[in-house]
Amino acid sequence: MKVLQLGVGAVGEVNARVAAQEPHVSTVVLADIDEARVRAVAAKLPPGKAQCLVLDASDRAALVDAAKDAGFVLNALATAWDIPVMEACLEAGANYLDMGTGGPREITGTADLDEQLALDGEFKRRGLTAMVSFGIDPGASDVFAHALYDEFDAVTALTVLDGDNGTADGYEFVCSFSPETMIEECLLPPYVFRDGRESRNEALSVSREFEFPAPVGRLRLWNVDHEEAQLMPQFLGGKGLRDAAFFIALDDRFVEALRVFRYLGLNQRAPVEFRGARFSPLQFVASRLPQPAELAGKIHGAVCVGALCEGTLARRPARRFMYQTTSHDEAWERLGVQGTAWQTGASAACAVRLFARGEVARRGVVPPELLDPAPFIAEMRAVGLEVGVVDLPVA
Ligand SMILES: NC(=O)c1ccc[n+]([C@@H]2O[C@H](COP(=O)([O-])OP(=O)(O)OC[C@H]3O[C@@H](n4cnc5c(N)ncnc54)[C@H](O)[C@@H]3O)[C@@H](O)[C@H]2O)c1
Repeated sequence: MKVLQLGVGAVGEVNARVAAQEPHVSTVVLADIDEARVRAVAAKLPPGKAQCLVLDASDRAALVDAAKDAGFVLNALATAWDIPVMEACLEAGANYLDMGTGGPREITGTADLDEQLALDGEFKRRGLTAMVSFGIDPGASDVFAHALYDEFDAVTALTVLDGDNGTADGYEFVCSFSPETMIEECLLPPYVFRDGRESRNEALSVSREFEFPAPVGRLRLWNVDHEEAQLMPQFLGGKGLRDAAFFIALDDRFVEALRVFRYLGLNQRAPVEFRGARFSPLQFVASRLPQPAELAGKIHGAVCVGALCEGTLARRPARRFMYQTTSHDEAWERLGVQGTAWQTGASAACAVRLFARGEVARRGVVPPELLDPAPFIAEMRAVGLEVGVVDLPVA
């Protein structure tokens, strides 16, 4: 199978490197607007597996041609590109995978998960598969939730928890993945499933503490808008699920900065006019922060992402956490990348590798909840993403 790797930033680099190690992946076409990144990543792929393509994704004809040539598109661009790239895949007859979605449409003006899922019929009609939200979280986190859901007799709550105790040399705070996505999602009113109903909290209004397995430890986490809070109730709701939410650890200084961005309207995606220039405040602010690929080697600490399942197991109350922990320092020493890029990029590549081997039979738009968790988790372990499980005290 030939893969068009669209975007070779921090995560795209790992996508390409891990996908290229799969014998059923013959070639990875490294496509990005930034030629220097394309060349740098090509040098890291196994000999004979890389092709280079300087491509601006807004050139629709060039995108469709490249997708047609490859047959599979791994989209590692910012989430605002999801729908245009999915539509190009439909036109080209190519299969598709991304690592997250934008929206909600009514707030950000960009396409959301509902719009992606609505393309299910179009992909099915053409016999194509579009795997959506397949990074670490969303992605592996939803697969973990599914695995735990299958084990439990009754499931009352599913919570995804993302904790990073990392610090970055020379910076007060950083975004370890796309700053544009991170700022935007932290300031959206988070979608939550509460008491069996969908609802939205106010941004940065709900926080909790959680003790992650060592070496991450206890962190303060904030309820943030994320795909899992919507996907888990939609696809794993059958055992009595009442509550679902997503929480992420945020540095106190970053929380302060986010409140200032909100106060000044600097999290707004829509362009504004200033002294004759027109620009998106969100994209401007994101451009002032260090970019994820620049952080390789500068972040120290570890990141843990997991799903907490609460309910009953063998008819007794139970709380079980399934997780993946990556050390930023080890990711740098072993692979020359930062930990979040490794966790995300390698998880997405697991789905690509399963697909290349013909182990994903589903057609249409496929969120991670619809895959069989066992082969996916086995593939994670095979590429070096350790998966742990711990039982926590029942409150
Ligand atoms: N699900 C998860 O766990 C998770 C975690 C982290 C990141 N992500 C997602 O992964 C994606 C990639 O994140 P990243 O950290 O690698 O971002 P990044 O900013 O490092 O990389 C984006 C790349 O896109 C390229 N690009 C920008 N505009 C382009 C265009 N018009 N045409 C072609 N290339 C263009 C840039 O040059 C860059 O190399 C984002 O959508 C992010 O939200 C998901």
